[in-house]
Amino acid sequence: MNLQWILISLLFFTSAIAETFKNLDSHPKFPCKPPHFSSYPFCNVSLSIRQRALSLVSFLTLPEKIGQLSNTAASVPRLGIPPYEWWSESLHGIADNGPGVSFNGSVSSATSFPQVIVSAASFNRTLWYEIGSAVAVEGRAMYNAGQAGLTFWAPNINVFRDPRWGRGQETPGEDPKVVSEYGVEFVRGFQERRKTKVLKRRFGDDDDGDAHDDDDGGDDGKLMLSACCKHFTAYDLEKWGNFTRYDFNAVVTEQDMEDTYQPPFQSCIRDGKASCLMCSYNAVNGVPACAQEDLLQKARAEWGFKGYITSDCDAVATIFEYQGYTKSPEEAVADAIKAGVDINCGTYMLRNTRSAIEKGMVSEEQVDQALVNLFAVQLRLGLFDGDPRDGHYAKLGSNDICSSGHRNLALEAARQGIVLLKNDHKLLPLNKNRVSSLAIIGPMANNISNMGGTYTGKPCQQKTLFTELLNYVKKTSYASGCSDVSCGSGTGFGEAIAIAKGADFVIVVAGLDLSQETEDRDRFSLSLPGKQKDLVSSVAAVSKKPVILVLTGGGPVDVTFAKTDPRIGSIIWIGYPGETGGQALAEIIFGDFNPGGRLPMTWYPESFTEVAMSDMHMRADSSRGYPGRTYRFYTGPQVYEFGIGLSYTRFDYKIISAPSRLSLLKLLPQHSHKKLLLQNGDEVIRYLELDDLGVNSCESLRFNVRFSVTNTGETDGSHVLMLFSRMPPVLSGVPKKQLIGFDRVHVRSNEMIETVFVIDPCKQLSVANDAGKRVIPLGVHVLFLGDSQHSLSLEF
Ligand SMILES: *[C@@H]1O[C@H](CO)[C@@H](O)[C@H](O)[C@H]1NC(C)=O
Ligand SMILES: *[C@@H]1O[C@H](CO)[C@@H](O)[C@H](O)[C@H]1NC(C)=O
Ligand SMILES: *[C@@H]1O[C@H](CO)[C@@H](O)[C@H](O)[C@H]1NC(C)=O
Ligand SMILES: *[C@@H]1O[C@H](CO)[C@@H](O)[C@H](O)[C@H]1NC(C)=O
Ligand SMILES: *[C@@H]1O[C@H](CO)[C@@H](O)[C@H](O)[C@H]1NC(C)=O
Repeated sequence: MNLQWILISLLFFTSAIAETFKNLDSHPKFPCKPPHFSSYPFCNVSLSIRQRALSLVSFLTLPEKIGQLSNTAASVPRLGIPPYEWWSESLHGIADNGPGVSFNGSVSSATSFPQVIVSAASFNRTLWYEIGSAVAVEGRAMYNAGQAGLTFWAPNINVFRDPRWGRGQETPGEDPKVVSEYGVEFVRGFQERRKTKVLKRRFGDDDDGDAHDDDDGGDDGKLMLSACCKHFTAYDLEKWGNFTRYDFNAVVTEQDMEDTYQPPFQSCIRDGKASCLMCSYNAVNGVPACAQEDLLQKARAEWGFKGYITSDCDAVATIFEYQGYTKSPEEAVADAIKAGVDINCGTYMLRNTRSAIEKGMVSEEQVDQALVNLFAVQLRLGLFDGDPRDGHYAKLGSNDICSSGHRNLALEAARQGIVLLKNDHKLLPLNKNRVSSLAIIGPMANNISNMGGTYTGKPCQQKTLFTELLNYVKKTSYASGCSDVSCGSGTGFGEAIAIAKGADFVIVVAGLDLSQETEDRDRFSLSLPGKQKDLVSSVAAVSKKPVILVLTGGGPVDVTFAKTDPRIGSIIWIGYPGETGGQALAEIIFGDFNPGGRLPMTWYPESFTEVAMSDMHMRADSSRGYPGRTYRFYTGPQVYEFGIGLSYTRFDYKIISAPSRLSLLKLLPQHSHKKLLLQNGDEVIRYLELDDLGVNSCESLRFNVRFSVTNTGETDGSHVLMLFSRMPPVLSGVPKKQLIGFDRVHVRSNEMIETVFVIDPCKQLSVANDAGKRVIPLGVHVLFLGDSQHSLSLEF
C-alpha cells in the first residue's frame, strides 16, 4: 500500500470513525444481537442468503451504503451492525500484514507454514489441502479471540512468469496446471465448513464420518472462512526498469491469456469455489484490471463466481492516479463498480462514490448490487447468525493454534518441499554417528527473521538452521561470513574460512532473503547477491571434504559455478521453509528424511536478465531474439529445469498401458462433423477447435495411463511423478512440452507400485490458438514419464 494513501486513509478514518467509537460500550460486537437487533429479516436463518442480503441493503441509507465500500466497513449502529474489517491475510499461515489480524491479545502467534513456493515443490495435493484447512482452523480460532476477520486474501495464484519477480515466492510456481491445482486444494481446505462432529474430534470425540458438511461451500453454501484468488490478472511485476506495478500495462496475447494467465483463476473459482476475487493494480492490454468489465463479468457469467470482488489495496485509486485511465477520481470509482468491483481496499470509494452518483456516472442500484455480493459472503460466513460464541466454530480457541498437529504439518511441508539439486558421489546423507564436527556458514544460517518469506505472521516457535543442526552434532560451529544477505564486504570471510578448515563437514547457506525479493521489489540480477559467491568458493577451497551448499530464497539463482565445482558436493534448495524449516533441513542432511521435492520453476542463467521483465509473451520469438518463458516455451540455456529434484534412492518407471489411438469423432454431433468437413474442403484437418464445435468437455474420451514405479535403491522414499506430453506442432505456439498429470507417491525400497493418470484430452491435450481458442491438435502426442515414452495418435 502506498504510504501517501495510508496517511490519507488514517486521517479520513480518525474523523469518520470517531463517531462510531464514541459509544463503544453499547456497541454490539456482532450483528443480529438479541433481543432487539435479531428481529430483522436479514437475521432470519430460514430465509435464503440472497433474501437476507437484499433485506439488509433495503434498510440502508446511501451514506450507510457507501460506508460499506471500504476494507474497513463502517458500523450501522441503528441496525446493530458493528464495523467489519475485510482485510486479513493467510498466505502460508495467519499473518498480520492486513489490519484484520493482530497478535496482541490472548493469541500471540500462529503456525508459520513454509512459503507457498516450497509447499508447491512437494507436488502433494493432500498436503496443500491440509495446509489450507489448518490455517483456516487457526483463522477461525483467532476470529473467536477477536484477533482476525473471516475474510482472508490468499492464495496468490499468479503464474511465476519471470524469475526476477519479488513475489514469485508467494506462488505455486510457473506451471498453470500446478498453480491451478494448488489454488483449488488450498481454497477448498480453507473454505469448506467442517462438520461439527469433526470439530469435536479435535477435542477427543470419535467420528468416522465424512469430514465435510453436506453443504459443499457452493453458491449459497456456508463457509468456514473466505479465501480470495488474487491478483486478477496478469500481475507479476513489482518494480523494474521504468515500470511499477501501479502503472504497468501488461500487454498479453489472447493465446497466452487462455493457456497461461487465466487457467489458475478459472480453476480457483470454478473448482475451488472461492468466494473472493481480487483485481490487480496493473492494466491488461490498456484497461486497468479493476476496470476490466469483460474479464470480471466473465468470471461471474462463465465460471460461476458467486463471491465478492475486491480491489487490491488502492487499486481503484490507481485507475486514475497512476494509470491515468480516467479523467477524474469519480470516473475511476464508477468504472470499477460498473466493471464489477464490490469493495475497495482503501478509501477511494468512500470518498468518491457519492459524487460519482450525483454526477450520474454510476447508479445507486449498481452500488446495491455490490452490497448484495458483500453481505452474501458475510451471511455465508455466519456473521449474521447471532453470537459467534454459540456458533458452529465456537469451540475453536487458542489450543487450536500452534498445536502440535499444525506444527508437524508445517514440518512435513518443509520436508516434502525441500529440493536436492546436486549430490555428487552420494555426499549426502551424512552419517550422524560418524560426523564429529560441523561448520555452518552464511548470513541466514543463524537468523530466524526471514525464514517464512513474505506474509509471515508471528511464528509459534522458530529455531534457526544452526540451532537445529546442533541437535545432531554437538560440535557445530557457526560464522556468518557476510554481515547480511547483500554481502557487501568480505571482512567476515576470515572467520568463516577458519571454522571451515577445522570441521569434518561444512554447510554454506547462501541465497536470497526479503532484502532482495519481496513485494514492491524485483531483482535485477539472478546471481547470488554481493560477494556471496566468493564466500562459497573461498570456504569450498579450504574445506576437508566437498561442501554442502544450502540455498534460500523463492526466486531462482544462477548457481552454475556451484553446479560445476567439484568442491561443492551437494546443493539443497530450502526456499523459505517456515518455522520448522531448520529441523527439516537437518533431517534431510542426516538422512532421517529422504528428500523428494521438485523445482516448481525453471532456474535461468544470469543472461536471462537481458530479457525485458515487462515483456509478457510466453512464447519464444526467434525473429527478435526473444527466448520465451517457463519450461513450456523457453528455448535458452537453463541452470536447473522445472521438475528437477533428486532422492537418496532411485526410481524406475514403466508405462504399462495407455491407448495408442483415440478417435475424436464421437466428440462431434453428426451435423457439426459434416459442417467441419465442408468448411475444410480438401484440406487435411490438423486440429479441432473446441468452442466451434460447441464442445467443452470430453468426458466420454477420458482415458487411463497406467504405469509402474519401482524404488530400486536401498532407501524408502516419496517420489513425484510427472507425466508430460509433447503435441504435434500443427499450429504456432505449441509448447515444447506440457505437464498433464502429477502425483506424489511413497514407494518402499525394492518395491513397486502401480498408479494411474486419468487424461481428459480436451483439457490436458489441448492448447490455445492465436485467437485464444482451445484446440486439440490431431496427430501423434508423445506422453512421457522420465525416460519412459508412449505415442498416442489422436485421429478424426
Ligand atoms: C423467518 O422466515 C420464515 C420464512 O419466511 C418465516 O416463516 C418466519 O416467521 C420468520 N421468522 C421470524 C422470526 O420473522
Ligand atoms: C491490538 O491491535 C489492534 C490493531 O492494531 C488494536 O485495534 C487493538 O486495540 C489492540 N488490542 C490490544 C488488546 O492491545
Ligand atoms: C526507461 O526510460 C528511459 C527514458 O525514457 C529510457 O531511456 C530507458 O531505456 C527506459 N528503460 C527501460 C528498462 O525501459
Ligand atoms: C537477521 O536478518 C535481519 C534481516 O536481514 C537483520 O535485520 C537482522 O539484523 C539479522 N539478525 C542477526 C542476529 O543477524
Ligand atoms: C502427502 O502429504 C500428506 C500430508 O502431509 C502425507 O500424509 C503424505 O504422506 C504425503 N504423501 C507422500 C507420498 O509423501
